[in-house]
Amino acid sequence: MMPASATRRAMILHEMGLETWRLRTPADSVAAPAPAVEVVADSLAPAIVADWERLRVAVRDCQGCELHRTRTQTVFGVGHSAPRWVIVGEAPGAEEDRQGEPFVGAAGKLLNEMLRAVGLGRGDVFIANVIKCRPPENRNPTPAEIGACAGHLQAQLDLLAPRLILAVGRIAAQSLLGQNEPVGRLRGRAHAFGPAGIPLVVTYHPAYLLRSPAEKRRAWDDLRLACRLVAPRAS
Ligand code: URA
Repeated sequence: MMPASATRRAMILHEMGLETWRLRTPADSVAAPAPAVEVVADSLAPAIVADWERLRVAVRDCQGCELHRTRTQTVFGVGHSAPRWVIVGEAPGAEEDRQGEPFVGAAGKLLNEMLRAVGLGRGDVFIANVIKCRPPENRNPTPAEIGACAGHLQAQLDLLAPRLILAVGRIAAQSLLGQNEPVGRLRGRAHAFGPAGIPLVVTYHPAYLLRSPAEKRRAWDDLRLACRLVAPRAS
């Protein structure tokens, strides 16, 4: 009989559509589904906390592009204040615009499962988007909108100083890497982000995976690559 943890893992991989895969990491401690949480590390310097709060207010009040006219609210991001991994998506959708939190719709459910498959809850990572306001009708953000918001994401990454960035989808991958290659060409290898050379892994956007479940195997390979580069949890 499978131990309870193995059964749980099998269930998670099943939800990801990957029942034939076995997790190779010793993830018997797969995290229970975490509610949306903000985890503040005890050791954060007061100056960083102050900068973070200033940034939160700057994003909340931002009128740097036309999207401020149609948003319900900005979507700053959520998660751990000193995460090992930062997940970067594209832009808030309708549900995220309503709730003020990234990845809370159908794609978010799959993102949660992907994280759980490597033993992580939402509170273990920080989840942000390239842009903080919803583009109407869920259209792609324009280069001007991405440019107007780039400073916010950069400031988040500077303050969070993650050990690894997981870019989900084309917009996140191309914006962070400054490249025009499709995800299929950017995924499957380690990139280096910024002057500090933070390891960056590109994978498919969960919304794409919902439409193209056959690609989940590749997304799983990307997650395993990210785990090899930087263990998602301190041992
Ligand atoms: N898709 C994204 O890229 N980000 C979200 O927050 C929700 C859906």
